[in-house]
Amino acid sequence: MKIAIMGFGTVGSGVEEILYKKRKSLLKNNFDIEIDRILIKDKSKKRSPLNKNLIFTDNFKEILNSEVDTVIDVTSSLEETYERILSLMKAGKNIISANKAVVSKYFEELNELARANNVYFSYEASVAAAIPIIHPMMEEVFFNDINKICGILNGTSNYILSMMEKEGLSYDVVLKKAQDLGYAEADPTADVGGFDAMRKIRILSSLLYNAKIKEEDILTFGISTIQKSDLDYAKKMGYSIRLLAKSKLDGGKIDISVIPTFLKDNFFAKTFKGSNAIKVWGENFSSYELKGPGAGKLETADAIIRDLLRILSAREIKTFYDGTNSYDLENNCLGKYYLRTSKISSKLEDLIDQDEILAGDHHIITKKTSLDKLEAAILDLNEVFIAKIEEEI
Ligand code: NDP
Ligand code: HSE
Repeated sequence: MKIAIMGFGTVGSGVEEILYKKRKSLLKNNFDIEIDRILIKDKSKKRSPLNKNLIFTDNFKEILNSEVDTVIDVTSSLEETYERILSLMKAGKNIISANKAVVSKYFEELNELARANNVYFSYEASVAAAIPIIHPMMEEVFFNDINKICGILNGTSNYILSMMEKEGLSYDVVLKKAQDLGYAEADPTADVGGFDAMRKIRILSSLLYNAKIKEEDILTFGISTIQKSDLDYAKKMGYSIRLLAKSKLDGGKIDISVIPTFLKDNFFAKTFKGSNAIKVWGENFSSYELKGPGAGKLETADAIIRDLLRILSAREIKTFYDGTNSYDLENNCLGKYYLRTSKISSKLEDLIDQDEILAGDHHIITKKTSLDKLEAAILDLNEVFIAKIEEEI
């Protein structure tokens, strides 16, 4: 079976490494997988694949017109890759993608096109890397109502938060370490700005509720403005801070958000380094928790190979998502919030419960309020760090 890969960075080289090192074992189990060619952007870059005979090309047509029936997308490109996936699906090729930017932005279109062209669209690696979450959820939706999901879905942010907390390292130093470990995106803005976690909770929620959820409707706060003083303040109150992505379907409304959260000694607070953690609530069980590597070379490649084997052995689930359920979206997230700001607006004043000034900054605990109200109150303020105070998840 010949396949093609688009992209040969951290994850692409991980896919090649596993397929090369495990070839004997795969062959023994009737998985004769050969990489026909690999699409890259910059032909002048030095590559070190384990299989020295691999063919690299920067000409997409070589892949489109090849005999391969399955193409793995591990590029860091959004629009160009999206256009290419469209062409590949129309040409009858199955797609496996780790590229959550594409999977999230074009979730509806890609599912529709996969169905129309009778090809597989597999994206297990796009959420939480090595943790199996997409496929278990795909099976659950046939016989269970999953009405709530909550997760640490960005390895880079978790690495930064937990290392700043445990080792007392500075933001810039730990971000650099997360980049060196291959967790962060080429441009880490999406990681630390919360957008990567937003894309992942959109993918999960769209699938679970079979609904159309717009990226821009998800209230998203990241950790890019965090300072040591925020972690110190949280610690003084007995909390850790983690970036949580949450969605809940209740009473015909979806409450969905991404926000740093003060957590007391629970499953999420005990998630360290590049790990991801997910808690799922369903009708047939109260809840269960999953934890594991949410980013990294072999960790992400592992999920891709699982998709590949499912397709090759005709065990993959055909796309059933059609987004036909219609729900209102609300960004209530009712609760108390922590805020650090150098200035206070009149709108914010009304929401303050406690205000402690440390080194010129206001460290505020709000009264119980909604996230959209709070967002409106901090709209004109610069460099605010905001976190939800969670008593119970
Ligand atoms: P890298 O930046 O390490 O590699 C990206 C690869 O994509 C490079 O080989 C690059 O080519 C290629 N590429 C970029 N643009 C194009 C283009 N227009 N045409 C052809 N090739 C292109 O990224 P990662 O390997 O870390 O991530 C790959 C994808 O997987 C991303 O979408 C990422 O979000 C996702 N992902 C990453 C995880 C991780 O832990 N790193 C985990 C889960 C998902 P060239 O080498 O020539 O520059
Ligand atoms: N940049 C992502 C992260 C990679 O840090 O979680 C995994 O999707």
